[in-house]
Amino acid sequence: MVKKDQLIEKAKEARKYSYSPYSNFAVGAALLCKDGSIFIGANIENSSFGLTMCAERNAIFQAYINGKQKKDIVALAIIADTKTPVSPCGACRQVMSELLNESVSIYLSNLKGDIAETNIKQLLPYAFVKEDLQN
Ligand code: THU
Repeated sequence: MVKKDQLIEKAKEARKYSYSPYSNFAVGAALLCKDGSIFIGANIENSSFGLTMCAERNAIFQAYINGKQKKDIVALAIIADTKTPVSPCGACRQVMSELLNESVSIYLSNLKGDIAETNIKQLLPYAFVKEDLQN
């Protein structure tokens, strides 16, 4: 099974595919499944800025599009050239809370090699979830 450092390395490779001419802030992500398969993502920007898609959401969506589900996903690594381990945006945290189990290890990293290990419960406490829609 792929180790933490290897998954972060995959995220670093994925970062090369970032299309970020507006922010010049390249982000890479790599998602590991129980069967060993890995899905990558990078941020893809647009001249209409709001259409930009973050790296981690692209990686999660790739996994789902390829038939994976919550139960299949074990880890997600995200990397950017930041002073401290990259912090996922609020939109991505909401998407993670919908599509990842709390047991999924989330590795936040940077090019210097700093790593913060967390999970979606820590990243988004009191999340708005499916059950909240039931009245
Ligand atoms: N971005 C990501 O891809 N993931 C994050 O965790 C933070 C932000 C992207 C969105 C945009 O293309 C650029 O970084 C600057 O916000």
